[in-house]
Amino acid sequence: MKRAPPPITRDVGRAVRVLQDGGLVALPTEPVYGLGADASNGRAVARIFTAKQRPPNHPLIVHLHRPAQLAQWASVIPRTAWQRAEAFWPGPLTLILKRAPGVLDAVTGGQNTVALRVPGHSLALRVLEQFGGGIAAPSANRHGRISPTTVEHVVSELGDAVDLLLDGGPCDVGIEATIVDVSSASVRILRPGAITAHDLQVVTGDALACGGDDDDGHDTRMRSPGAMTSHYAPQASVVLSTAEHAQRQAEAWRLQGAHVGVLAARQPEALHPSVCWLPLGETADQQAQQLYRRLRQADELGLDVLIAVPPPDEGVGHALRDRLQRAAGRGDETPLAGDASPPGGKR
Ligand code: TXA
Ligand code: MG
Repeated sequence: MKRAPPPITRDVGRAVRVLQDGGLVALPTEPVYGLGADASNGRAVARIFTAKQRPPNHPLIVHLHRPAQLAQWASVIPRTAWQRAEAFWPGPLTLILKRAPGVLDAVTGGQNTVALRVPGHSLALRVLEQFGGGIAAPSANRHGRISPTTVEHVVSELGDAVDLLLDGGPCDVGIEATIVDVSSASVRILRPGAITAHDLQVVTGDALACGGDDDDGHDTRMRSPGAMTSHYAPQASVVLSTAEHAQRQAEAWRLQGAHVGVLAARQPEALHPSVCWLPLGETADQQAQQLYRRLRQADELGLDVLIAVPPPDEGVGHALRDRLQRAAGRGDETPLAGDASPPGGKR
């Protein structure tokens, strides 16, 4: 007999009981929804990987109720890590620290570090407080797909693979938390987010690097596999453009028979009526809130090609450009397309 769909609720106590029983709970956090399980229960953690179809070496973020819990999960906590935790938690910042003995390999992907965050969403904080322990929670989407920013997105991504969904409304931030590796002397941003390099530097006054090799000569992008190219992708081919060239590019693709959309803060002039404009929002904060909803909308509309105009590289705009570049399948900063001719056919 077919199982009833998982409950969608705001009942924190019920969510905590599901977690205690080793179940999976979709959890609202301020960046995106997470797929939560008891981080100290190996079986529950294994279910996350099955539900998401995520490769086993991809480490998970452990969510905590308050900064003081850091000491249970990390073995070495530099002074600057405490300073950043105090300044930004609860909030959209994940710290990578040397793991404490006893943290499950399944959580860390076998690495000697662990990712930790105190989320800012009130429902998540209440769950964490009542639960007491750490909750491992990756974004609640299938592997390689767009992170969910509403509970409805989680339903469409994971459906029955979740035991309970906590509905905390649309996510305030809308893109995943900034990840900072503070496990070695050279502090690095592994994933840009709403908390910027500038914000992080102001607190401690020390320098920050982005990506690249760490002290041991390891490529940090390998240690943070989710930060590799080609994530956050809708079904449509995403083509990066500029406000100036978006209309011409859309037209070139349309004339090739593609169903085309344009994702941009402003509607380009003279768009053909069959080309959809997906407004990205005026302010950078609105753009972050809207981005993933718009990428999903591109799929709902059955677009073949989405011409995307990234916002300026300032503040959270840096993280938005990062996500759009990855959606376009390009991990590194490359010049934006200005050529009106479509690249040889569709993906
Ligand atoms: O905003 C967020 O961070 C959301 C919410 C639910 O908290 N979570 C999230 O989780 O985006 P996930 O698993 O989709 O992305 C976590 C990223 C992955 O790229 C993973 O490789 C990286 O964090 N990560 C986790 N542990 C790590 C570690 N020990 N060292 C380096 N990177 C790590
Ligand atoms: Mg993710």
